[in-house]
Amino acid sequence: MTLAITDPDRENPSDPRSPSLARRRFAEILLGTGFLATAVAFVYPVLRYLIPPKASDLGSDSVLAGRVGELKPNSGKIFRFGSRPGLLVRTASGEYRAMSAICTHLSCTVQYRQDLHEVWCACHNGLYDLNGRNISGPPPRPLETFEVQVRGEDIYVRRLK
Ligand code: FES
Repeated sequence: MTLAITDPDRENPSDPRSPSLARRRFAEILLGTGFLATAVAFVYPVLRYLIPPKASDLGSDSVLAGRVGELKPNSGKIFRFGSRPGLLVRTASGEYRAMSAICTHLSCTVQYRQDLHEVWCACHNGLYDLNGRNISGPPPRPLETFEVQVRGEDIYVRRLK
């Protein structure tokens, strides 16, 4: 016959009030939470890539680029065309021209040069005329040009079809 001697101060793992069981539960919750956070950190970017957010301006063919009187003759401004920059130019004779502001060489943002009356890319000294044609420097292709419509006081720019 064996005699079991129990120590009342000794921890009993099956007793829900036992400190070791509480520590184990705490460790399990901590590990579970960490695993869940790690899984979310991996899955969320993948889901955002596969299901991009809806943007109201994506795919838009026409945007408000400026207001009449905003540009003096022989000046230009950058405007937002969807997610990309566009360049609105008012020529010295007062005509409006619009084109993509993304250089066709290495995608720097171009700007209007008042002194040259041309569109200039500062990255590698690329030059375009006011019709978007690449005229000097490394740009291999013309800039995409847009149609300009003045409606009342607003200047709209539209993609050419
Ligand atoms: S990026 Fe414009 S000239 Fe190189």
